[in-house]
Amino acid sequence: MSGAREGLVVTVDGPAGSGKSTTARLVARRLGFRHLDSGALYRALTFALLDASVPVETWPDLTRGELEALGVSVEPTPAGFDVRVGDRVLESELRTQRVTAQVSQLSSFPPVREALLGLQRAAGRHGRLVADGRDMGTVVFPEADVKIYLVADLPERARRRLAERGVTSPDDDALAAEAEVIAQRDRRDSTRAMSPLRQPEGATLVDTTSLTIEEQVEVIVLRVRERMAAEG
Ligand code: DC
Repeated sequence: MSGAREGLVVTVDGPAGSGKSTTARLVARRLGFRHLDSGALYRALTFALLDASVPVETWPDLTRGELEALGVSVEPTPAGFDVRVGDRVLESELRTQRVTAQVSQLSSFPPVREALLGLQRAAGRHGRLVADGRDMGTVVFPEADVKIYLVADLPERARRRLAERGVTSPDDDALAAEAEVIAQRDRRDSTRAMSPLRQPEGATLVDTTSLTIEEQVEVIVLRVRERMAAEG
């Protein structure tokens, strides 16, 4: 695929809490590539619908045209992309509990996936991209040069998600409750009809359960450098 582009496309897929976004951002920084967090686009659409007070029960019936009219866009920055709704650049708005509670369901609707496909592909047009999500290597960039599939044990993913929210020594009940939330999200993301989460063909499987972030970044950077060397 890289023949038509100026640089490589690297995809990083995996379930919630596998460390995708952090890892992809750091890999991109090490390589001097841009990072695309595709989950942020699904979150931006969710935010835009909530912000426009579109009732949640009508979301399954929204058309691609109606979704596109919400004005979600991505603008390249030196390190990655700003995600916008209209003129507004979204950051912390994407991570609220309200958005997180609705995004997985919204992302299962085919018109939503169709509305966001072109934006993601455009971000990879010139290569030099590390894109993370659920379907980067399977649907959005099936011809990517390097594909990574990150996994980690469920209790470890629950621990990481709690640590992100500042809970560093959770008791067993808190851990079990978080694990259940993640397991539900995994089930929704991997059983939906369109673009379900699965390991892309040809992807390198990286189990991050007992790796540090630095170690998982290193594994991927090495893999990309091998590929660059092979291409000459
Ligand atoms: O990675 P994240 O938590 O920001 O993703 C938010 C939701 O968006 C997640 O529940 C699944 C969905 N998503 C998707 O369906 N496909 C992607 N490429 C990225 C995210």
